[in-house]
Amino acid sequence: MTDETGPAPLDRTGDAGFHLTVDGRRIPVEPGQTVGAAMLAAGIRSWRTTRFAGRPRGLFCGIGVCFDCLVTVDGTPSLRACLVTARPDDEVTTS
Ligand code: FES
Repeated sequence: MTDETGPAPLDRTGDAGFHLTVDGRRIPVEPGQTVGAAMLAAGIRSWRTTRFAGRPRGLFCGIGVCFDCLVTVDGTPSLRACLVTARPDDEVTTS
């Protein structure tokens, strides 16, 4: 006998993934993922450098506080990758 009162199992069969591009490289995205999460999942760990020391930066806080994850999305600069939900065919450029 199965217990039908518990939470429904996660059904991801209807979720169709898509792609965006980062500096011309196509990467996969899960629906609902942020640009930063998609970049990290694709193995892109840093995409900026600090102004004076040239130290690598990418996701740090992951919640929109530190501004380490800035990217340009479809021509709009200085967006926090950790807060921007990815959309199909977004074009992300890094600095
Ligand atoms: S990782 Fe800190 S603002 Fe995005």
